[in-house]
Amino acid sequence: MKVLITGAAGFVGSHTCEALLRLGHEVLGVDALTDYYDPSLKKANLQHLEGLPGFSLRQADLGELSDAELSGLLDGVDVVYHLAAQPGVRSSWQSGFALYAQANVVVTQRLLEAAHRSSVGRFVYASSSSVYGRAATYPTGEDAPTRPFSPYGVTKLAAEHLCGLYADNWGVPTVSLRYFTVYGPRQRPDMAMNRFIAAALAGREIRVYGDGEQVRDFTYVEDVVAANLAAGLRDGVPPGAVVNVAGGGSITVNGLLGVLEGAVGRPVRVVHEPRQPGDVQQTGGSVELAARLLGWRPRVEVPEGLARQVAWQQSPAG
Ligand code: NAD
Ligand code: UGA
Repeated sequence: MKVLITGAAGFVGSHTCEALLRLGHEVLGVDALTDYYDPSLKKANLQHLEGLPGFSLRQADLGELSDAELSGLLDGVDVVYHLAAQPGVRSSWQSGFALYAQANVVVTQRLLEAAHRSSVGRFVYASSSSVYGRAATYPTGEDAPTRPFSPYGVTKLAAEHLCGLYADNWGVPTVSLRYFTVYGPRQRPDMAMNRFIAAALAGREIRVYGDGEQVRDFTYVEDVVAANLAAGLRDGVPPGAVVNVAGGGSITVNGLLGVLEGAVGRPVRVVHEPRQPGDVQQTGGSVELAARLLGWRPRVEVPEGLARQVAWQQSPAG
């Protein structure tokens, strides 16, 4: 099978590439190596892929490619994974929003147009738990109202709607996976676990936004990759499907710090900073639909996943 992965050098993208290559698929990765975080980390992610047979990379900004070039990327491709985006909830305010709108909405629409012109068999879009905002019920099912609480969430929801309407109008075989706070080796350095572990290992203070009682449904990256594989390769996924990919075990930030203390074997020091605009109090996703449609359930629980991320941060090349 030939697969196109946008955002191939990123956290989730590089793991997804690696899994597909190890299964023997041909993978074309596209990534602009944007400087939202240190591009040398993305180059390090790519090093895991470069020795594997079947991998090629096109370093390019999708937003700068012509329609013909986008169509060319999809030539002969069976499955698209569209993971390229401007991520991060807390930096999507003020003038930063223009970049989010361009990278997350405009690029997705143009890629969907290219998919419509092609004969791609599946278009998997990396959506987000941020589409729910402050959900009324937990665990939140896919039918719950979507009311994002951050500008980032608005862009992820807009792109998800685009996937739905290209499916409804043109039969483009999209599936949107709503990932819930993903963690594990190669995690982005702006995310909580990465920052907490880095601070704990260096003996620095951990900065907690608000009182630390906010709840997250952390999802281990290997589980997200398994959901990606199922969404791209499994039969019977209807065009326009929207599916939660959640860890199945919500925990507060304070609870997470307790687990971290166990993993590093010493107490951590915490300073509290103001709660961040756009940060929801709780996420927690129902995974019943993922089980039915994708035959998927999360497997890795936070203590095990966190220990693996600690080991990676102690020895990133490993
Ligand atoms: P990441 O930043 O590590 O990866 C995204 C990659 O996309 C980066 O390598 C970046 O260089 C690339 N990129 C951005 N804009 C591009 C463009 N215009 N052209 C080409 N490449 C471009 O982020 P991640 O955490 O791996 O997230 C992957 C996807 O999953 C994103 O769509 C994100 O919104 C979504 N998501 C992530 C999480 C999470 O917890 N990490 C949760 C929900 C959804
Ligand atoms: C994460 C990703 O960053 C988004 O790209 C993604 O779309 C989103 O998950 C999602 O699930 O959809 P977030 O939940 O904010 O967003 O992830 P973290 O950065 O891991 O933050 C988790 C919690 O820790 C938040 O409440 C945050 O405020 C808090 N935090 C984060 C701190 O207290 N201190 C920090 O230094 C960083």
